Amino acid sequence: DPVRFISNHSSGKMGFAIAAAAARRGAAVRLITGPVTLQTPPGVERVDVISAEEMWQAVVLDPGEIFIATAAVADYRLETIAPQKIKKGVSPEPLTLKLIPNRDIVAAVAAMQPRPYIVGFAAETEDLRQNARKKWSQKGLDMVAANQVGGEDGGFDRDHNRLWLYWGSGELQLPYTTKAALAEMVVEQLLDHYPNPRPQLKRGV
Ligand code: PMT
Repeated sequence: DPVRFISNHSSGKMGFAIAAAAARRGAAVRLITGPVTLQTPPGVERVDVISAEEMWQAVVLDPGEIFIATAAVADYRLETIAPQKIKKGVSPEPLTLKLIPNRDIVAAVAAMQPRPYIVGFAAETEDLRQNARKKWSQKGLDMVAANQVGGEDGGFDRDHNRLWLYWGSGELQLPYTTKAALAEMVVEQLLDHYPNPRPQLKRGV
């Protein structure tokens, strides 16, 4: 309704750190972001969206040569949005909200021809490796960066994180460190695995 909404704990810190790391290496970066309170990194073009549907539209317009899907996009949305504040006690109790699936943005990009090189993320509360590998294959990703959420080191809304990278034939555990440092490592790994011809970006900055 006009007063309440459904969201999650994502702060945007991981995604903004990756945008900053890529821009520092000379990439032309377009950062499509939901509502967050972060400063746009220098040299980054920012596109603000509110809903998963708006994000889908902004992405499919131009997913770029490399698409990094860090956003915690909602898998479901409410079927209807009440035009006025929903009053307590007016509907039968308990109040039931019907959720319908959102389009999967990264899977849509993976289905494009030609398609960009795609790094997806996986936020998991259990069976991290198995679930991340499943997302890698089901969504058609080139690489997936997986993090455990909901626990002590949980990836949401912190300055530090722990990431595991998985790609076709390999995997790499990155250290528990700042999201800024992890972003540098993710971009570095991406450049190592990007098929020829490589983008002309600076390495090890
Ligand atoms: O923002 P922070 O506070 O810094 O937290 C960082 C983070 C925890 C959000 C980040 O590290 C992270 O894990 N991002 C992905 C969160 C997520 O939505 O994961 P998922 O496992 O539900 O989705 C898998 C992939 O599908 C992701 O690349 C996601 O962007 C993509 N997706 C999901 C749903 C959807 N409708 N469209 C998508 O493209």
